[in-house]
Amino acid sequence: MEYRGLLALAVMLSFRCHGALSCPVRCTCHFGLRSVEVVCPDAELSRYPSDSLPGNTTSLTIQFTNLSSVSAHELGVTPLLQELHLPGNGLSSLPEDLLTGLHHLHTIDLTGNQLKELPAHVFYHAPLVNLVLKDNLLTSVNSDWLPANSSVTWLNLSGNELRKVPSALLQKLSHLETLHLSQNLLETLPSESFHFLHALERLYLEENKLKTLENETFTHNTNLTHLFLQKNKLQSLPATVFHGLDRLQYLDLSENQLTFLAPDTLGLGISFVDLTLNPWNCDAKIEYLWKRLNKAAVQPEPKCAAPETLKDKVIAALTRKELGLEE
Ligand SMILES: *[C@@H]1O[C@H](CO)[C@@H](O)[C@H](O)[C@H]1NC(C)=O
Ligand SMILES: *[C@@H]1O[C@H](CO)[C@@H](O)[C@H](O)[C@H]1NC(C)=O
Ligand SMILES: *[C@@H]1O[C@H](CO)[C@@H](O)[C@H](O)[C@H]1NC(C)=O
Ligand SMILES: *[C@@H]1O[C@H](CO)[C@@H](O)[C@H](O)[C@H]1NC(C)=O
Ligand SMILES: *[C@@H]1O[C@H](CO)[C@@H](O)[C@H](O)[C@H]1NC(C)=O
Ligand SMILES: *[C@@H]1O[C@H](CO)[C@@H](O)[C@H](O)[C@H]1NC(C)=O
Repeated sequence: MEYRGLLALAVMLSFRCHGALSCPVRCTCHFGLRSVEVVCPDAELSRYPSDSLPGNTTSLTIQFTNLSSVSAHELGVTPLLQELHLPGNGLSSLPEDLLTGLHHLHTIDLTGNQLKELPAHVFYHAPLVNLVLKDNLLTSVNSDWLPANSSVTWLNLSGNELRKVPSALLQKLSHLETLHLSQNLLETLPSESFHFLHALERLYLEENKLKTLENETFTHNTNLTHLFLQKNKLQSLPATVFHGLDRLQYLDLSENQLTFLAPDTLGLGISFVDLTLNPWNCDAKIEYLWKRLNKAAVQPEPKCAAPETLKDKVIAALTRKELGLEE
């Protein structure tokens, strides 16, 4: 054994011998008054360090290692766990019983693994509030991952390969406040997609392949304050799609294919709207947008794409004459 290994072993033993605090090799441990946090950031780690974790660990992070599996038995050595962060490892599957016995676990972060599918009931056994599955290889999401009484308020499914909104799972999440579905392959949002999400405040749908929205897609999400739709392929919007969203403050529609907005599409309560990088067609029909942009305070400034004579001109700065509203 090399010197470094010996030293670590000696340190570990001395901790053990004094009946005090052990910490796995390649990890750092922080012993607080109410929490015990363990962070294992070492790429050399390839096994779950269950034999040396403090039994009262409340937060565990194992990141950017070659860890490729984890079992209920291994997690069971730390029954007080509240947060489990496993980003950037090599996990390609999870066992169905993974979270049994973890009655305090409220957060699990599995960002940047190789998860393709998950078994039924996989997140049933813990009172999860935050579930992060960002940047995996999921092509579908099953409604039986979470129980009907789930208290999840934060769900991150961005960066996967979803072609459909997982509405069956979302139906169970009446407490959901933040939903990340960005960077997937969504092409449509059927009217009922988000109908049960009455508590939803932030909805991230950027970088999908959305071409249209239904006029009733957001009707039931009256608590929505932030809506992110940038970098899609939206060509037009139903005039009433944002109506009734009285708390909406922030709307990002930049980098779409919009040429025109129907009168009254944007509620007056929305204080920040980004409409830049759309191919706006600056003729008389754009009068509503022109007026709206002139009313609002500081905003990014959308520009005309057509006609040729007005190309790249800031829409808000156009004159009535340029818009063809007077001779
Ligand atoms: C965790 O266990 C160690 C060792 O028994 C103890 O000193 C520490 O107070 C405990 N911390 C918490 C938050 O329970
Ligand atoms: C971890 O994975 C990387 C990349 O796949 C590899 O180069 C490295 O040898 C592995 N390390 C161990 C300790 O297995
Ligand atoms: C959900 O219901 C199960 C079974 O009735 C119960 O054990 C669990 O504590 C409940 N979970 C939540 C978050 O209410
Ligand atoms: C979730 O996904 C978004 C992308 O929409 C990302 O910006 C955010 O940092 C992610 N992380 C967590 C912990 O939710
Ligand atoms: C909507 O938001 C308000 C204020 O934050 C909150 O009191 C209310 O419970 C929310 N509605 C739902 C259905 O969660
Ligand atoms: C949405 O469109 C349908 C069919 O075009 C119409 O019947 C319905 O009244 C519209 N709903 C709203 C809220 O505008």
